[in-house]
Amino acid sequence: MNSAREESTIVSRQDVEDRIRALLDGMSLEEKVGQLNLVQCTGPHVVEDLAPDIRAGRIGSILNVEDRDAINALQYIAVNESRHGIPLLIGRDVIHGYHTIAPLPLGQAASFNPAVVRDCARVAAQEASAFGINWTFAPMIDIARDPRWGRIAESFGEDPFLTGQLGTAMIHGFQISEDNGADTLIACAKHFAGYGASEAGRDYNTTNVPLNELRNVYLPPFQAARAAGVGTFMTSFSDIDGIPATASDFLLKTVLREEWGFEGAVVSDWDAIHQLCVHGLCENDVEATHLSADAGVDIDMVSAAYQQHMPELIANGRMSIARLDELAGNVLRTKILGGLMDRDVTSPPDEPPRMAALTKVREAAEQSLVLLRNEQNILPLNAAHIERLAVIGPLADEPVEQLGTWIFDGDAARSVTPLSALKSMLDGDVAVDYVRALETSRSRDRGGFDDALNAAGAADAVVLFLGEESILSGEAHCRADITLPGVQADLVRRLRTTGKPLIGVILAGRPLAMGDIIEHFDALIYAWHPGSMGGPAIADTLFGRCVPSGKLPVSFPTMSGQVPIYYGHKQTGRPATPETVIHIDDIPAGAEQTSLGMTAFHLDAGYQPLFPFGFGLSYTTFHYSDLSINHHDIPMGGSVVVEASVTNSGDRSGTEIVQLYIRDRFGSLTRPVRELKGFKRVHLEPGETRKVSFRLHTDDLAFYGRNGQFAAEPGAFDVWVSASSVGGLHAVFSISG
Ligand code: NOJ
Repeated sequence: MNSAREESTIVSRQDVEDRIRALLDGMSLEEKVGQLNLVQCTGPHVVEDLAPDIRAGRIGSILNVEDRDAINALQYIAVNESRHGIPLLIGRDVIHGYHTIAPLPLGQAASFNPAVVRDCARVAAQEASAFGINWTFAPMIDIARDPRWGRIAESFGEDPFLTGQLGTAMIHGFQISEDNGADTLIACAKHFAGYGASEAGRDYNTTNVPLNELRNVYLPPFQAARAAGVGTFMTSFSDIDGIPATASDFLLKTVLREEWGFEGAVVSDWDAIHQLCVHGLCENDVEATHLSADAGVDIDMVSAAYQQHMPELIANGRMSIARLDELAGNVLRTKILGGLMDRDVTSPPDEPPRMAALTKVREAAEQSLVLLRNEQNILPLNAAHIERLAVIGPLADEPVEQLGTWIFDGDAARSVTPLSALKSMLDGDVAVDYVRALETSRSRDRGGFDDALNAAGAADAVVLFLGEESILSGEAHCRADITLPGVQADLVRRLRTTGKPLIGVILAGRPLAMGDIIEHFDALIYAWHPGSMGGPAIADTLFGRCVPSGKLPVSFPTMSGQVPIYYGHKQTGRPATPETVIHIDDIPAGAEQTSLGMTAFHLDAGYQPLFPFGFGLSYTTFHYSDLSINHHDIPMGGSVVVEASVTNSGDRSGTEIVQLYIRDRFGSLTRPVRELKGFKRVHLEPGETRKVSFRLHTDDLAFYGRNGQFAAEPGAFDVWVSASSVGGLHAVFSISG
C-alpha cells in the first residue's frame, strides 16, 4: 500500500475487502445499484424529497445540497434508518476554497509551491467538512494548453510535471489531516482524460489526442494522483479518438485499473452516461448504461440511467451480478478508505477559525502574483514619493469578481478588494482617487474615460485594474478572442497619453493576449483571480511589503491566433529561429512565394510567446552561475546530480523559483524541445548565494516510446538550470546504451 490515504487508515487491506464482501452479501440488487446512484437535489424540501430513497438504499451519494442541516439530516437517515447504515458520499465542487477562497488553481500554480497548494486545500477541506461535505470534485489536473478554454482557470497550466506535483499536493491537502479525518474531503482526479485538449478551446468539444501525447502529456498527472492516493476519479465529457471517455475501456480498464491498480470509485461527469447517446455512440440509455458499466464507471452522476436500466440489464443477462458487485464494491471501498464508515458522519466538526484561513489564502495570493513587466524598476511604489494615487478600473473594487470561477459557497463578505486594501494601507499618507471608468470588464461605454483621465492627470502614479470578470472563464465560458474584453485596451491607450506612470494589474481566469498594449504599461502584475485576500496581497506587492515571486504556469500568447502555444512543443523539421522569421510588413510587394528556407512561424506573430512558461520578474535580480554535473555519462538506472549557484544580485531579499529542464535529443519518437523536471523555491538575502541541487534518475527521463513501453532511451540529453523555460545554464550528459 503506497498511497497516503491507504497508509493513514487503521484497518488492514484484508479487513476492508472482508467488510465489502459482507456488505455486498447482505445487499439487494436495488441497494447495490443504489450505491452507484449520485443525485442532486436542491430547494427547501430536499430532506422530504430524498428521505424515502435514502432510507430504501436507492441513493449512494448526493451533490449540491446546500443546507448544512439538510445534509446532516440526510446523512443521519442513511446511517441510522437504512438497512445497512452506509453513509452517503456528499459531493460538492470545492475547487479553490469553500467560504474562504484561495487564488484560482491556475494562480496557485504560479507559486510553484506545493506547500501553498496543500495548505489552501486543507483550509477548504476544513471549512467544507464542517458543513457535512465529504467529497470534492477536485483537483482538476487536465493539461491546459489553450487559453481560449475557460477551464484553464481551474487547471495548474500547461505542464505535466508541475500539474502532477501540485495535483498531489492538493490531494494531500484535501485528504490528510492530523485528527481522525473528520475534517477531510475525499478528492477526485478529473477529468479522465484529455478534456483539456477540447478542440479550439471550446468546452465539451471533441478531442483528438494521439496515444503518444495522451501517454506522455495528458495521463502523467493522473498517474501521479493515483500514486498520491486520490479517492476517486471523474471521467471526462469528451470524445477522445472516437470514444467518449465515459465509455472508454482503454482509459478506465486498461490504464486506470489494470496498469495503475486503482480500486476506488470512478464517477461519470454530469449526465455523461446519458450523453453517450447524444455523442452518437449508442441509441438509448440502456446501451449507455451497458457501455459505461462495462468500461468501469462506478457512479452515475445524475443521469439516473444506472438506476433505471441496470436491473433490466442484469435480468436479461447482459450484465452479471459479479460486475455489479465490482462497481458497488469500488464505491464501498471508497467510503471505507475515506473513513466514512468509522466515524460519526452525522455530526461534522466545527467551522475552523476564519483568521487562520484568511492568512493561508493571503499567503497563496502573494505567491501567485506574477510580475511581467517593470520598466525602470517603477515598482515597488514608494509611499513617501507619492501624494496622489489614481486607482482606475472595473476590477479594483469587486469583492465577487476577484474570487473567480467555481465559488458556489464563497463568502464575498470575506473579500478584501485591492481598493480597500490600498486605502487602508495608505491611510493619511497618500490620497487615493478611485474611478471605475467602465461598468464591467466587457463594457463598451467610454463615458467614464474622462473622469479616469482627470484622475490620472492629477496623480503621481496610476494603478489600473483590468482583466476579466469571473464569469468570463470557467466551465462553458470559453472565448475565441482572448484579448482584454470590451474597450479596456482603449482605456490603457488613453491613459498612456497622460504620461503618468501606468501600472497594470490584471485579474483574469486565463492568460490574456496583450501583445498590442503591453508596451503601454510601465509595470504589469498578473494577479489571476486572487481570491478573498487578493486585495492585501496586491497592495503589499505594489508598495514593496511583499516581493513578487510567481512564475507563469502557462505560456502567454502575443495574440489569440497563436494558441495553442506552449514551451514543451516538438522541434519540427523546420524549427524557427529569430533569423528565419519574416514579418508580414517586411515582405516586398509582388514577392514570389517560396518555401525554401522557411520555418515554423506566423507572419504576424513569429513563433515565440509574449511571456514564456516559467517567466516572472522580482524586485531584485538573480544571477545563475557555476553549473556542474557530476557525470557526463550514466548507465541505465543511474542518476546525475545537476547543481548551480544562484545569487541575489539586487538589493532586496527575494525568492527565486529555480527550474530544471531537459531535452532528450533523439528518441524513438520525437521529444519535446524542453521538459520541466524539477523546481525549487529559494529565498535569498541581497548578496547571498545558494547552491541549488537536482538529482535526475534515468527513470525521470523515461517516456512512452515507439514500442509503447515506458522507458528511458540511451543517448544525449541537454539539461538547463534556468529562471524560465527560455535560456539558462546548459550542460549535456548521456545515458549509455
Ligand atoms: C460538470 C463539471 O465538468 C465537473 O467538473 C463538475 O465537478 C461537475 N459538473 C459537478 O458539478
